[in-house]
Amino acid sequence: MAALPTTYSGNVRIGVIGGTGLAVLPHFTQVASIPVTTPWGVPSSPIVILEHPSPTTGEPIPVAFLSRHGIHHEIAPHEVNSRANIAALRSVGVRSIVAFSAVGSLQEEIKPRDFVVPDQIIDRTKGIRPFTFFEGGLVGHVPFGDPFDEAVAQIVRICGKSLEGDGVVLHERGTLVCMEGPQFSTRAESNLYRSWGGSVINMSALPEAKLAREAEIAYQMICMATDYDCWHATNEAVNVEMVMAHMKANSLNARRFVGAVLDELIEVVHKYGTFRRPTAGIREDEVAVS
Ligand code: ADE
Repeated sequence: MAALPTTYSGNVRIGVIGGTGLAVLPHFTQVASIPVTTPWGVPSSPIVILEHPSPTTGEPIPVAFLSRHGIHHEIAPHEVNSRANIAALRSVGVRSIVAFSAVGSLQEEIKPRDFVVPDQIIDRTKGIRPFTFFEGGLVGHVPFGDPFDEAVAQIVRICGKSLEGDGVVLHERGTLVCMEGPQFSTRAESNLYRSWGGSVINMSALPEAKLAREAEIAYQMICMATDYDCWHATNEAVNVEMVMAHMKANSLNARRFVGAVLDELIEVVHKYGTFRRPTAGIREDEVAVS
């Protein structure tokens, strides 16, 4: 296959952060692969621009895709340069992000391969990942009481519901525990998170969601359960093979779900421009590429 162009002149407003398989979405065409550099370093992967005709006008609408863990899944969760990832997406124009993540389930009713649209996060990262754009004399405090964007969340829930009965099981809300990793939790930790009301657990939502908020990007995560972590009495404790096997087995549903959400977002962005979310007054040039 011929190499893709490394520049793109269209107006990109929507971004997807996800795993390798999601760069190939039904009805989307890869039209460019942009190697971005930011003041915070290089992102996990080039930004691949996908195009899809607007369902109403037929006009091609671009979506920016970034692989959080690198093209060959070579970047561990604690090594992801989230500042570069968010700044790179912002620099090509992105104002709303749908992020995808495999998660462990902390509740019996959330079964492996179910999807969850979280509405809260408990931060169990260790503060060792760079987690803010506001430092070195630039002071800012963004609200984070609701860590996800409700407008994007509503679209995600409607799309997930529309696929129910067609292989997709959806939990419309949930509290996501984001842990440091790369080791999985101990059983005592897993039970502690359950006692706190945690629904699912991953290693990827933070600082991504915080940085998106600082960069005034509307952000929502779609989670897919791959295991019962290590608290469950009768299910085997989580291991990497289990996570990968469920991801692979359910990748078609994940792609259909994300594809449906993008179709809807494309319509909204086409009608209203963007989901831009005003916060603490970050300036355009503060998240520009170098
Ligand atoms: N990602 C998938 N399953 C997980 C688990 N049990 N803990 C943390 N991250 C995960």
